[in-house]
Amino acid sequence: MGAPSASIVDREADALLPTYPRYPVEFVSGRGARLVDADGREYLDFLSGLAVTSLGHSHPAVAAAVADQAARLVHVSNLYYTAPQVDLAERLRATLGWPDAKAFLCNSGAEANEAAIKLARRHGKARDPDKVGVVALRGGFHGRTLAALALTGNPAKHAPYQPLGDWVTHVPHDDAAALVAAVDDRTCAVWVEAVQGEGGVRPVPDEVLRAARAACDRVGALLVCDEVQTGVGRLGAWYGWQTTPVEPDVVCLAKALANGLPIGAVVARGAAASAFSTGDHASTFGGGPVVCAAALAVLETMGRDGLVERARHAGEGLAGALWSLADGHDLATGVRGRGLLQALTLREPVAPRVTSEALGRGLVVNAVTPDAVRLAPPLIVGDDEITEMTGLLGAALVAVGVPS
Ligand SMILES: Cc1ncc(COP(=O)(O)O)c(C=O)c1O
Repeated sequence: MGAPSASIVDREADALLPTYPRYPVEFVSGRGARLVDADGREYLDFLSGLAVTSLGHSHPAVAAAVADQAARLVHVSNLYYTAPQVDLAERLRATLGWPDAKAFLCNSGAEANEAAIKLARRHGKARDPDKVGVVALRGGFHGRTLAALALTGNPAKHAPYQPLGDWVTHVPHDDAAALVAAVDDRTCAVWVEAVQGEGGVRPVPDEVLRAARAACDRVGALLVCDEVQTGVGRLGAWYGWQTTPVEPDVVCLAKALANGLPIGAVVARGAAASAFSTGDHASTFGGGPVVCAAALAVLETMGRDGLVERARHAGEGLAGALWSLADGHDLATGVRGRGLLQALTLREPVAPRVTSEALGRGLVVNAVTPDAVRLAPPLIVGDDEITEMTGLLGAALVAVGVPS
C-alpha cells in the first residue's frame, strides 16, 4: 500500500476536527473502477466512496456536464428559476414512475431526511396537531444531523447527543407485529430502507414492508423510504422500493445521484406532494445548476447505457463470487444484500482487519459492521473486475484466517 506522506497525516490531525478514522492512504485520482494513490499505486474500487460514484470515477459525461454548467452559471439562489433544477425534478419523477410527484432538492442524505421529516409533520399536523410521531427501524441509518440522528436506529450514536426528543419509536427491522403495534393515530410517518446499508447490508423483510404500508394506510401516515444508499440503480432497479412489494409515498435520495457531487432530494407523490407550502423549507445551495447538471448527466447515462440492467446482472455475478468465497474460506459464513450492495459475513468480528488486508492488496472495500465486509462497486463494474476482486478478497481472508 502506498503509505501517505507523513505530512498529510500530521497536517490533517492538526487542522481537522478528529471525526473520521482514516485508512492510511491518500487517493489522488480515479477512472472507472480504479483509484490511484499518491505513490501512483492502483486500487480496484469496490466501495464507490460509500455507494456514491456509481458511474465510476471521472465519468466523461459528468465531467463535461459540470464543466459546461460551471462555465455558464454556478449559483443564482432559489429566488429565481434555473432550468437544470426543473429538468432534474421532471427526470426523477419519470424514473420513479410517479407522474404527480414533486421534488425538493438539497445537498446530502441527512438533509433529504430532514426535509422529509418536516414534510411528514406538515402532512400529519394538517390532519391532527398531535400527529408528529415517527416509527423507524432498529439498524436503520438516516444521517448525522440531530433529527436524522433521532431516526437512526442505533442507540450508541444517540448517546453523546441526548436529548433527541421522544418523537421516534424504534422497532426491530424484522418484526412486523411490533411495527404494527407501534403505529397509532399520532404517527405521521413510518421510515424504512429496502436494504439497511449502514445497518450491515440487511434487506428488510417483505412482510415488514407490507405491514408498514398497511399501517400507514390505516392511520393516514406517510411511508418514507430512505433510498440514499439503495436508490439510483444500486439494487438492480432504479429505486430500492421497486425490488420490494410496496410503494412508498416519499423517497429520500442523495449519494449516487450526482456521482459524487453533493446533492440530496426528497420526492413525494399523492397527498404528500402538496404537504409543503411556499416558505416551509429552503436551502441556499439546494438544486444549484452545477449539481443538477451532474445529476441529469448521471440519469441520462444510466438510461442510455442500460446501467440498471447492468447492475442487476453484475449483482448476480457479485453475489455468486462472494458465495464462492464463503464456501471456500472458514472465516466467511455467508452473503447478504441485493444487486450491487452486498456484504460478506464473517465468523469473527475481524472485518476491519480483512478490509485492511484487502487495501494492502489493492482492493477497496469496507467493514460495515465488525463482522461484515461491504461491497458496493460502481454499476459499470466488469465481470473481469469481479473475478479480480474475488482473488484479492480471498487472499485477504487467508491472511487474516480464523483467530484461534
Ligand atoms: C440510508 C442513508 N440515509 C442517510 C444517509 C446520510 O447521508 P449523508 O451522509 O449524505 O448525510 C446515509 C449515509 O450513509 C444513508 O446510508
